[in-house]
Amino acid sequence: YALNTGIFEMKRTHHCNELRPEHAGQKVTLSGWMHSKRDLGGVLFIDVRDREGRTQVVFDPSDVPADLFETATHLHSESVIEVVGKVRLRPADTENTKIETGLVEIMVETMEVLNAADILPFPVDDPEVAAKVNEELRLQYRYLDLRRPEMIRNMRLRSRVATATRVFMEEQGFLEIETPTLFKSTPEGAREFLVPSRIHPGEFYALPQSPQQYKQILMVAGVERYFQMARCYRDEDLRADRQLEFTQIDIEMSWIDREDIYALIESLLVRIWKTAKGVDIPTPFPRMNFEEALNRFGSDKPDTRLGMEIKDFTEEFRDSTFKVFSGTVKKGGVVKAMNVKGLACVTQGQMQTMTDYAIGHGAKGLAYIKVEDGQWKSPIVKFFSEEEKAALIEKLEIEEGDLILFAADQWLTACEILGLIRLYSAEVLKKDGKLTIDPEMFNFLWVIEFPLLAFDKEMNRWYSSHHPFTAPVLEDAEFLTSDPKRVRGQHYDIVVNGVELGGGSIRIHQRELQNTVFKDVLQLDDETIESRFGYMLNAFRYGAPPHGGIALGFDRLIAILCGAESIRDVIAFPKTAKGTDLMAQSPSRVDDRQLRDLHIQSKVKKKEEKPAEDSA
Ligand code: AMO
Ligand code: AMP
Repeated sequence: YALNTGIFEMKRTHHCNELRPEHAGQKVTLSGWMHSKRDLGGVLFIDVRDREGRTQVVFDPSDVPADLFETATHLHSESVIEVVGKVRLRPADTENTKIETGLVEIMVETMEVLNAADILPFPVDDPEVAAKVNEELRLQYRYLDLRRPEMIRNMRLRSRVATATRVFMEEQGFLEIETPTLFKSTPEGAREFLVPSRIHPGEFYALPQSPQQYKQILMVAGVERYFQMARCYRDEDLRADRQLEFTQIDIEMSWIDREDIYALIESLLVRIWKTAKGVDIPTPFPRMNFEEALNRFGSDKPDTRLGMEIKDFTEEFRDSTFKVFSGTVKKGGVVKAMNVKGLACVTQGQMQTMTDYAIGHGAKGLAYIKVEDGQWKSPIVKFFSEEEKAALIEKLEIEEGDLILFAADQWLTACEILGLIRLYSAEVLKKDGKLTIDPEMFNFLWVIEFPLLAFDKEMNRWYSSHHPFTAPVLEDAEFLTSDPKRVRGQHYDIVVNGVELGGGSIRIHQRELQNTVFKDVLQLDDETIESRFGYMLNAFRYGAPPHGGIALGFDRLIAILCGAESIRDVIAFPKTAKGTDLMAQSPSRVDDRQLRDLHIQSKVKKKEEKPAEDSA
């Protein structure tokens, strides 16, 4: 990083991670933040820090003027200073092996205070203290938080991966094309953000949930290979891995099938892992169809690092005397079970918490067996026959110390419940030190052959599991209207360590088929189809090549590479879980005039003006 050799005339001669023993004797100028200060026997040691690292500078009262020494003594942490002095080797036994400049120090001759800092709301120099600072405070003073080396590292990695992505995509013949963020409302997926139009009273733009429609139109427009680091907006409930606005590596290609996307994304991820971590990840990635993912891991984004596979016992319990199980099977349901190794020691309280968690997610109960002191401790084993027990022992490889958990329900519910309990159990095991996961293990996986449609019981209609532009698997297409449930989509998700990193599909490129999906399958009326998607159907009339694509969640990708718990740690200015920017204080009210210009009237009453606290 040649900060001082660029086109900018910087006053410093070196950055703070540059000086080494070979610089001894040179006169240098460093600029940066006053990271830490120690007074040892009347001599002042200050670490000056910039983006690159830190260097120790020494104020010896016999070398520097008294007023300067006085100023330095009283400066607060994080004041911005510039120091001039001579580099020297640190005296024997005072070297600091923890920092790269630890063999040298600078004997200060002069110093200029460029900006004296106030007392900080939280310290930024101590990683242990910083890790405990509450996140709201960090977000309120994000500019301080971002000075922490860990955060700078995340931002730097993000920038490098973005560049590597652009270089790779360019090599592969993709054009980076920007699509509008003032789009139109097409309420299909998540809730949208609306932007009122001033010029067209009562009309609105919508911020795009993704550039999906534009990128397909770009294929009709003959671009053939498009990508974009695209900003997307979704007004959904926030979690650790979700933000209201986020970035996708958005991709679309013409003349391809699914295999081309798998190959492209695998090569891209190989490049990214090489750039970010210097490792070669093995390809091709394993593939698993949706049904298998649910059956074995209870999730369409399985974390295959955890073991604990789910097994099916529907046949074994079909005629069981335990009516909870046999009754479910008679109603067309299934019985699934899972062995959590080493968790037989759960307390009654923990078991209750787990059961409540399962019930909160739609389970009817959470039957269990604790295998402890050579016994099966469980309220239900008394109903089990010898054959049933033998089947459990064999398929679940039951041993002392195991906890067996059951779900009896309709297929999807039973799988999903055990899938959630599996993740929950893994957290408990991790906390107890019974499960350790190598932080450098990355289990990539393609999940494929999703059902094209899912049924919304409340609305009594089918909806697209991905989006309505996804093409059906060819041999299933004839059942679109007669038996929608059995139609698989040409949809794929890329999953790593249980995180849905990205998803995409081969698209419908024929107007008739797209119209059938809108009209006969999703049951949209002609007017809705015309107003929302008319332009797209129209475009398909004039030569649409077969095409498909994918979008990777860029924030999630960087969080995985950084080992960050939340995508907030890899976004410079994220929103809180409540959707607020605590630093800029948004969202915020606007004045009546602005609303009038936009032809909008707010129904929310103005907050009462607070009486001044002290009006003396
Ligand atoms: P999808 O909706 O699956 O597909 O989104 C693709 C990827 O974007 C990331 N992502 C998010 N990241 C952070 N915060 C969010 N709120 C959020 N929502 C999604 C996820 C996800 O896998 N247009 C299609 C792609 C296509 O078909 O080509 C789309 O947007 O990592
Ligand atoms: P019950 O006979 O309803 O008291 O249930 C006995 C045990 O089975 C309890 O531990 C319940 O949590 C559990 N249970 C009840 N229904 C189900 C179900 N559908 N799937 C799994 N466990 C269940």
